[in-house]
Amino acid sequence: MNEIHRIQTVRSKTSLSGTIIIPGDKSISHRSVMLSSLSDSPVQVNNFLFSEDCLSTIACMKELGATIEFTGEQQVTIQGRGFYGLIEPSDVLNAGNSGTTLRLLSGILAAQPFFSVITGDSSLRRRPMGRVVEPLSRMGCRIIGREQSRYAPLAIQPAGVIQGIAYSLPVASAQIKSAILLAALFANSNTTITEPFLSRDHTERMFQLFGVPVERHDLSVTVSPVSSLKAPAVIDVPGDISSAAFWLVAASIVPGSELILRNVGLNPTRSGILDILQLMGADISMMNQRLDAAEPVADIVVHSADLQGVSLDAEIIPRLIDEIPVLAVAALFANGRTVIRGAEELRVKETDRLRAIVDEFGKMGAVITETADGLIIDGPQKLHSALCLSHGDHRMAMALSIAGVAAEGVEIMNPACAAVSYPNFFTVLDQL
Ligand code: S3P
Repeated sequence: MNEIHRIQTVRSKTSLSGTIIIPGDKSISHRSVMLSSLSDSPVQVNNFLFSEDCLSTIACMKELGATIEFTGEQQVTIQGRGFYGLIEPSDVLNAGNSGTTLRLLSGILAAQPFFSVITGDSSLRRRPMGRVVEPLSRMGCRIIGREQSRYAPLAIQPAGVIQGIAYSLPVASAQIKSAILLAALFANSNTTITEPFLSRDHTERMFQLFGVPVERHDLSVTVSPVSSLKAPAVIDVPGDISSAAFWLVAASIVPGSELILRNVGLNPTRSGILDILQLMGADISMMNQRLDAAEPVADIVVHSADLQGVSLDAEIIPRLIDEIPVLAVAALFANGRTVIRGAEELRVKETDRLRAIVDEFGKMGAVITETADGLIIDGPQKLHSALCLSHGDHRMAMALSIAGVAAEGVEIMNPACAAVSYPNFFTVLDQL
C-alpha cells in the first residue's frame, strides 16, 4: 500500500515508564545549517535533527554550494562558502513541508546577487508567504510569488542594495522575524524589528554564536549588517521541547507513569508548555540545568498527576504555538474547562490545526468548541478508539497517538508525516 495511506495502530497503555533522549531541536537545526553555510570555516553540528524538514534545508543549502556531510550519528559537518560565496542554484529549491526552510531561506536568497526560485509541497504552497515578501520588498529585495505574491513558489531576482528597515510584525512569528534578520545581515544600515509578542529567539541567539551583535529592548530586536560570520567549530543542538511535549502530556495523563526526558531545550521563548502544564497541576521537575549553543537545557522528570483546566491568552501562544494539539489532549483529560484564545495562527500551520483538532478528536468522541481564534474544552472526557486522519500534519499524528495511548487506542491514517519533526516517534512509543 502507498505510504500515504498506511494506517498506524496505537494501543492503549496502562502506565508509561522509561528514559527518552529527546531528538535535536528542529528550529535550531535549520538555523545551524543556514548560518554555517554562510561561514568560511567548517562547523560540526552534534545532535542535529535528521527529520524531513531539516533534510530539506540541507538539500537547499547544498544546491547553493555548501558542502554538507553526515559525519556521525546525529552529526553533520558543514563547510560553508563564506558570507558572499553562495552560488546560483541550477534548479528550483524545494523546501518540502518546511515553512522554516522556505521563509528563512527566502531572507537569505533575497540578498544574493543571483536568481532563485523556492517552492514546497502542496501544504506549504497553501501557507501565507506575503508575510515575508512584504517586509523583504520594503528592504529593496526583488521577490514575487504566486497569486499577487501571497503564495510559493517565490521567484527572487538578483539583489541590488538592501536597505535596513524598522518593521513592526503584524503577527508574532519567528519565521518572519528570522527572514528579515537574515536579509538584514546584508543590508546597508541597521534593521529593527518589533513583535506584538515575543516569538522564539533562536536566530538572535545563533547570531551571537556566529559573532553577530544583536540588541534587544523588550519586544524589539536590532541587528547591524556584517561582512563575515565567525562560526563556532562545534554546535551542540539541544533536544526539541516541542517533541518532548508529547511525552510530558502522555506521562501526565496516563496514571502511574514516570518518564525521564533527557536533553530538553528550555529556551524561555519556547517553554510555555511547561508553564501551562505546571499551572494545570502537572508533576514536572528539572535536573542538570546547563547551556548548549547559547540555549538553556535540562533533563526533565514527569510523573502522572490530576490536571485542571486552564485559560490561555494571546501573549503565551507564541511560546507554545506548536504544542496546542497535544495541549488539547491534556485538556481532554483534565478536570474543568480549558479555554485557548489568540491562537488564530494555528489556522495557517501545516493544516488548519484548530479545525483538525475538533474534527479528528471528535471522531474519538471528544466534544470541543471551535472559536475563531481558539478552542474551548470541558474535561474530563471519555474517548473511544477511532480511525483518524493526520491531515499530513506531523503534530496532529503525534497528538492523536498520545490521546489513543491514554484512552482506548486509535488508528491513524497517514502517520508517516511524524518524520517531518520526529522520525522515530512511533518506535519510542512502542518501547515505553
Ligand atoms: C518556527 C516558528 C514557528 C513554528 C514553526 C517553527 C521557527 O512558526 O510554528 O514550527 O523555526 O522559526 P511561525 O513563525 O510561523 O509562528
